[in-house]
Amino acid sequence: MSDLSPLATPAAQRPRPGTGPLIPGLEGTASSSAQDTAVLGAADGDATLTGMQQIGGATLEAVNISAWFGTRKVLERVSLHMPRGVVTALIGPSGCGKSTFLRILNRMHETVPGAQLGGQVMLDGHDIYTPGTRVTQTRSRIGMVFQKPNPFPAMSIAENVLAGLHLTGVRMSRPHRAEVLERSLLRAGLWNEVKDRLAQPGSALSGGQQQRLCIARSLAVNPDVLLMDEPCSALDPGSTARIEQTIGDIKNEVTVVIVTHNMQQAARVSQQCAFFLAEQGAPGGIVEAGNTETIFGSPADPRTADYVHGRFG
Ligand SMILES: Nc1ncnc2c1ncn2[C@@H]1O[C@H](COP(=O)(O)OP(=O)(O)OP(=O)(O)O)[C@@H](O)[C@H]1O
Ligand SMILES: [Mg+2]
Repeated sequence: MSDLSPLATPAAQRPRPGTGPLIPGLEGTASSSAQDTAVLGAADGDATLTGMQQIGGATLEAVNISAWFGTRKVLERVSLHMPRGVVTALIGPSGCGKSTFLRILNRMHETVPGAQLGGQVMLDGHDIYTPGTRVTQTRSRIGMVFQKPNPFPAMSIAENVLAGLHLTGVRMSRPHRAEVLERSLLRAGLWNEVKDRLAQPGSALSGGQQQRLCIARSLAVNPDVLLMDEPCSALDPGSTARIEQTIGDIKNEVTVVIVTHNMQQAARVSQQCAFFLAEQGAPGGIVEAGNTETIFGSPADPRTADYVHGRFG
């Protein structure tokens, strides 16, 4: 991939676990036009927990991402800093490019015939689009959960969870497999519901359970980042609450980036928010990004206020 534009942001800095305030750099509002850069916490290192606990995950930084389908440009120079330990919510009206942006973050956009992109995606300072970087390796570090739960129908619950590991060619002893299986299902908040029926087909679970199964499958490969594209939009309120709890539980181990149309959900689960908009046929971009409280409470741009208060979109 060629870099079509000059860099507006420095490359992501190496994380410094154990230093810095709770959510450094999120105190202020990063207001920008689509051409500008939304960088949160870039200068101060990444978020850490109070006390001694270190956080996992990786910092993801999108730098001047543009995207095309054929000749149609759908994203214009989008930059966003997504620090470890922080849940980032991507919000905005339908068609503004949220899913396209998310898919670029784990190299899925390039699977669409005729699709092109420019810019950089830095994972802890390394561009995932550097020639020679293996796509499978990138995807094992940056997992994705989709709107519609997609367990492999012919596989059991256990096989579904371990499927990603098999695909990446990881060989494990039987006890290790059992350990990974239990740990992944525990992290996804599904273990207690399925521990007695691990050999049953994944497709026999409820929609909410299937979505948690897909989260467990993603977590089994121990990713640094989990991308979620409207993971609860097909779920009932109870299942939605369960997934939101799972996000809260894993957010210090895995960097989460979630697309949602549900403003309450964005407010509940995220610490930073990026508002995407594509105006009058123009490519999509970030109008404003910043601390979630600021985006919902006192956004800098009137379009953000209109959107988060349900006046359009
Ligand atoms: N495979 C594709 N081929 C051509 N155009 C596409 C393709 N996928 C998306 N687009 C176009 O790219 C633009 C951005 O789409 P995208 O799916 O990223 O939006 P979105 O913000 O995720 O919308 P939604 O909230 O409805 O999911 C839209 O105009 C859409 O029509
Ligand atoms: Mg979408």
